[in-house]
Amino acid sequence: MSISILAIESSCDDTSAAIINDGRVLSNVVSSQIQHADYGGVVPEVASRAHIELIVPVVEQAFQKSGISPDDINAVAITCAPGLLGSLHVGVSFAKAFALAKNIPLIRVNHMDAHIMANLIDEPRPSFPFLCLTVSGGHTQISLVQGPLDIEIVGRTLDDAAGEAFDKGGKMLGLPYPSGPLIDRLAKEGNARFQFPSPQIEGLDFSFSGLKTSFLYFLRDQLATNPHFIEENKNDLSASLQEAITESLMSQLIKAAHHFQIKEIALAGGVAANSRLRTKLADAAAKHGWNTYYPVLQYCTDNAGMIGMQGYYQYLAGNFADQSIEASARV
Ligand code: KG4
Ligand code: ZN
Repeated sequence: MSISILAIESSCDDTSAAIINDGRVLSNVVSSQIQHADYGGVVPEVASRAHIELIVPVVEQAFQKSGISPDDINAVAITCAPGLLGSLHVGVSFAKAFALAKNIPLIRVNHMDAHIMANLIDEPRPSFPFLCLTVSGGHTQISLVQGPLDIEIVGRTLDDAAGEAFDKGGKMLGLPYPSGPLIDRLAKEGNARFQFPSPQIEGLDFSFSGLKTSFLYFLRDQLATNPHFIEENKNDLSASLQEAITESLMSQLIKAAHHFQIKEIALAGGVAANSRLRTKLADAAAKHGWNTYYPVLQYCTDNAGMIGMQGYYQYLAGNFADQSIEASARV
């Protein structure tokens, strides 16, 4: 029997729906809420209201694009955690209503596990076990992935996430939110000539708050003598910030690969789109003999395709949930 899953993602500021058939993503519709740029970050109340408006049209479009009828869906996979509670609630409520109306089971999906599963959507796929560096606006972690349902976090950020470091640094440079993609672009025209201390952390964890502070103090000191310092050095500042963030990500990833003796290495999450991180990954692959993987852009940032992928493996394992499931801000 063929298995069709409706997947819903609403954990932050993207409303997304996807249809997955036998582990293949047939459609993946993402509606991003650009109004947050005006506030310099995601405003939870604004996000949940926008999800309410977007969820029905986004799901309808996902069905249209897939060619699958709502009557042929076998289960609904839904992001339950982690994320913004008000945003998660919208998706969970919709998923419950759909499952109730169609008399089909729900599948509870963890957003961070799903980011990793984005690597299994298209060829080439990493073989198990692999290590995954998941870097997004809210999380930064290294996971040891023994199987689709056997994921262990072996390193995590002690403070800010890598995407947050890009976004907060970008804000200091006067760039719009989210600044990660823009910093990536500006850095291509710049030189990483300003050095910022990288944290010395034992084990496989990360820390970005020290970098944030030293970047802030550096700008403050330079602006005191030259009020145009940022405008005149925007490209070099972007390149330097990006270098510091990607360097600390890669040094921990290399440490993890040595520690676990694993050469199958994947990236996931919005920051996996960063071109400098990808170059550094390719350099490390050449040096250490790794096979490397990262999802195409639409599956790096938040999307329901990855939720459906994780849901599919849970379906095969018989991991179903009932109407008692609830959203949770934390894992
Ligand atoms: O995974 P994602 O879409 O949402 C979360 O779950 O957080 O990640 C969004 C984050 C933002 O912080 C954004 O600035 C960052 O990913 N990002 C990038 C790039 N594209 C997105 N950071 C650096 N370089 C990029 N090219
Ligand atoms: Zn995410």
